Amino acid sequence: MNHALSRWPGRLAAMVPDRPVDIAVIGAGNRSSTTYQGLFQSLRPWVNVVAVCDPVKEHADRYADAVDAHAFHDLTDLVKADLVEAALVIAPIDVHHAISVTLSRTGIHHLVETSISSTLWQARDMAQTADEHGVKFRVGENFIRFHFDRIAKEIDKTGFIGPIGRVLCVHDHPGYHNNSRWLVLYGAHPETVQAVSHRMSVEPHWEAPHRYHEDEGFRCHFFRFPDNRLVTDLAGNLKGMLGRYPRPGYTELAGTRGTIARAAMEHRHGAGEVRWCSDDALRNGARHDHVFPIEHVVEDGQWICDRVELPIGPVEFRNPNQLAVSHPRAHSLSSVVSHVTDFANEVRGSDHCEFTPADAVMSMEMEVGCRESALRNGEEIPLPLADLNIEAERRVWDELRVRHGVDPHDAEAMMSIMIARP
Ligand SMILES: NC(=O)c1ccc[n+]([C@@H]2O[C@H](COP(=O)([O-])OP(=O)(O)OC[C@H]3O[C@@H](n4cnc5c(N)ncnc54)[C@H](O)[C@@H]3O)[C@@H](O)[C@H]2O)c1
Repeated sequence: MNHALSRWPGRLAAMVPDRPVDIAVIGAGNRSSTTYQGLFQSLRPWVNVVAVCDPVKEHADRYADAVDAHAFHDLTDLVKADLVEAALVIAPIDVHHAISVTLSRTGIHHLVETSISSTLWQARDMAQTADEHGVKFRVGENFIRFHFDRIAKEIDKTGFIGPIGRVLCVHDHPGYHNNSRWLVLYGAHPETVQAVSHRMSVEPHWEAPHRYHEDEGFRCHFFRFPDNRLVTDLAGNLKGMLGRYPRPGYTELAGTRGTIARAAMEHRHGAGEVRWCSDDALRNGARHDHVFPIEHVVEDGQWICDRVELPIGPVEFRNPNQLAVSHPRAHSLSSVVSHVTDFANEVRGSDHCEFTPADAVMSMEMEVGCRESALRNGEEIPLPLADLNIEAERRVWDELRVRHGVDPHDAEAMMSIMIARP
């Protein structure tokens, strides 16, 4: 393993393995085509796409043609062909569990898109089956790799605002993705969860020609972490319709003498800043008397870094995952490159892991814990969940059973169904 020489002098490059990992892309639908397909050029030192598998022939064939790989329409045939060491699973969530355990049982390392699974039972089973077969199993969580989280973590490490004891996040992305962000930010798993949810009627409206709404949901999640640390994460109407606050909303990381904050702007990134109290301010009203803007640096369609000038010196996160070609969504695409390069390095023996299977399962524990707490009128529930015989799990299981006509926890039965693109 070594550091690739960057194509841009002075820019950091991620670790590269001695040889790329031969992979299959499983699922050639929307995310796979619009996000991953264009990234394989940037990912060439890490992964070599040799196979594409999708039960919809047209999807598999078109994608395989585009990336110059073998097309498969059945996972069993792909496995039998013995062409790949690893796979990227970019298929519908309903089949993540079935595909993951099938790959584990045949010794194929794999990275699964988010969310990890439909039920918590499936998530636990995926991690356990991979572990039993000595297979590298990872979840491609891109949200922990976004620029605000990256720079916030660097600022936190300096101790400048004191330990962060509370997070408030309004109108961003509560659920699996944000759960992952909080456990990575705190570097710990939460001890309890509490949640309330609400639904109200609204004037009928169209989000898009195919998306009509007559009501609007809202949820508020509380997570207690070790050492008296709290997260409050709330949102409804994430698309910001009807005058609601737009994404990425407002996020406040509360330290003992200052705050790292980000608020939505016209663009999707939002604007971040560090607010800080000098000793004088602490003695006189404790209104912050310093504001340090966080700069999000994009050059030529590449996300270069995020940085902030603090009195203790500059603090910076440099993006190690530059793209081979410039892109208006460079920041978001670099975060996907980041989880694929990490995965490939891990397959090749690196022990660096930013989001372990235990983390990936915990994000699901948090999600299912929230659903269950909301069903119990906000009861505080310890994590990990002690009993999976709960209403929140049962409802999802029932829904999947009706949708597919088979037991959603039965991997073989689920492999026999095909989930067409919506
Ligand atoms: N991290 C993110 O920000 C993000 C964003 C969008 C989607 N996603 C995730 O990406 C995954 C794919 O989403 P999408 O929007 O591309 O869905 P999609 O429905 O557009 O595509 C899914 C593809 O998988 C194929 N498929 C169905 N059953 C399969 C099976 N058994 N084996 C192999 N392929 C199968 C379908 O034919 C289709 O081509 C989902 O897990 C979704 O949650 C993540």
